[in-house]
Amino acid sequence: MSLPASLYRKTGADCEVGEVVYDEKTIRTRVAQLGLKISTDYAGRELLVIGILKGALVFTSDLVRELQIPLHLDFMAISRYAAQGPTRKVRIVRDLQEDIAGRHVLLVEDIVDTGLTANYLCGLLSARKPASLSLCTLLDRPELRLAELPLNYVGFQVSREFLIGYGLDYRDRYRDLPFIASMNLTSARVE
Ligand code: IMP
Ligand code: MG
Repeated sequence: MSLPASLYRKTGADCEVGEVVYDEKTIRTRVAQLGLKISTDYAGRELLVIGILKGALVFTSDLVRELQIPLHLDFMAISRYAAQGPTRKVRIVRDLQEDIAGRHVLLVEDIVDTGLTANYLCGLLSARKPASLSLCTLLDRPELRLAELPLNYVGFQVSREFLIGYGLDYRDRYRDLPFIASMNLTSARVE
């Protein structure tokens, strides 16, 4: 799929954005399906949705508008260090405002790759004794998984290709793209 012309006004001519992998309509349709499924599963219960900043901001804001149940919304901001290997640590930059004990929690991620981040967060949140804890990720990359964890809701399964847009960044750019794209590797060096 080729890129919308307006993108060149946004990113410049030496555009690092490659091919569109999921366009706006495809994402909207899938997010609506996930919203319906989650609403059905949690019918009669009140949900606490926790988005992981920054990557899951865009997905979370679209997803909550598709949920047809009462909910509370909170965010946790994290940064990762020791990026290589299973010893990866996650630092909490902003903790939750809500007390999650006894509540039904839905953790929302942009992409589960190695699974180390989500695994760490699930451990951390479980220790706070929620009534239940589920994980929803827009993208799932099972090929590179190091930590096994149950993914309750998945938008799309993706390959190894590095992706940007719809919250996903490359060096903190491109989160604002309304679609998900690959990188243009002739303009960018992906580490
Ligand atoms: P994990 O701990 O390896 O599962 O890391 C997942 C995190 O890495 C995501 O929340 C993203 O911030 C980042 N990440 C992994 N793959 C990509 C990608 O293809 N594009 C952008 N960010 C990615
Ligand atoms: Mg990121």
